Amino acid sequence: MLEVKNLVVAYGGIVAVRGVSLIVNPGELVAIIGANGSGKTSLLRCISGLITPRSGEVYINQTLANEIPSHKRVSMGLAHCPEARKIFAQQSVLDNLILGAFVRTKKEKMSKIHETVEEIFTIFPKLKERQLQQAGTLSGGEQQMLAIGRALMLKPQTLILDEPSMGLAPVIIDEMFNVIENIKKTKTTSILLVEQLAYRALKVADRAYVLEQGLVRLEGNAKELLINPEVKAAYLGVNAH
Ligand SMILES: Nc1ncnc2c1ncn2[C@@H]1O[C@H](COP(=O)(O)OP(=O)(O)OP(=O)(O)O)[C@@H](O)[C@H]1O
Ligand SMILES: [Mg+2]
Repeated sequence: MLEVKNLVVAYGGIVAVRGVSLIVNPGELVAIIGANGSGKTSLLRCISGLITPRSGEVYINQTLANEIPSHKRVSMGLAHCPEARKIFAQQSVLDNLILGAFVRTKKEKMSKIHETVEEIFTIFPKLKERQLQQAGTLSGGEQQMLAIGRALMLKPQTLILDEPSMGLAPVIIDEMFNVIENIKKTKTTSILLVEQLAYRALKVADRAYVLEQGLVRLEGNAKELLINPEVKAAYLGVNAH
């Protein structure tokens, strides 16, 4: 379970997040939607410990995490798939996946890690075909899948996805959302999903938060937000699907 209370994130004089509270319950898929610059990435980076909040708290399973470094948050079950896919370009697809499980390799047998690799290959058959290919030579969509696959190697309790659809062709976006739905169906991983494609995000999410200029403007059941006139007018325009 993930909880954020009154989080404020600032870069010098620029306040990007102005006191946001949110919660992600076990097994839930929670979406955050909002315009460019509304503070979505800042919020996620702060949850993962990549940046420090000016004030407010982040709780992972009811433990205050503000002082916990990001790599320790990973071992607490939090996996962050960042906005720009940050794969290890020089390494093979397979090595990227194995490296993704770094916090598990200390305490688990390699055979367990390889079992998870096989699970990832079931979710992303393309990655199986390409397992020995240098990751930097994969297509954009394949790299995005690798980034998600690598995060899943941690068997995270909570998966944070920052715009997984970014830069992808429509057919690959469909595939991506199928994968997100399949992860949700396992009920073992909760997902905090940031997406520009508000319609698609609200369709798959259980609950959602609408961020505006660093503040939560609206929150609630995703299906209700999908028919909310304010959300429709601002985020579900003709280009939204
Ligand atoms: N490292 C930084 N230094 C200064 N300002 C920053 C920094 N990172 C983000 N900002 C500013 O903080 C605000 C929120 O940015 P953020 O990246 O969190 O928005 P976002 O909602 O993720 O936007 P997008 O949809 O474009 O990804 C923006 O005004 C941005 O310019
Ligand atoms: Mg962003």
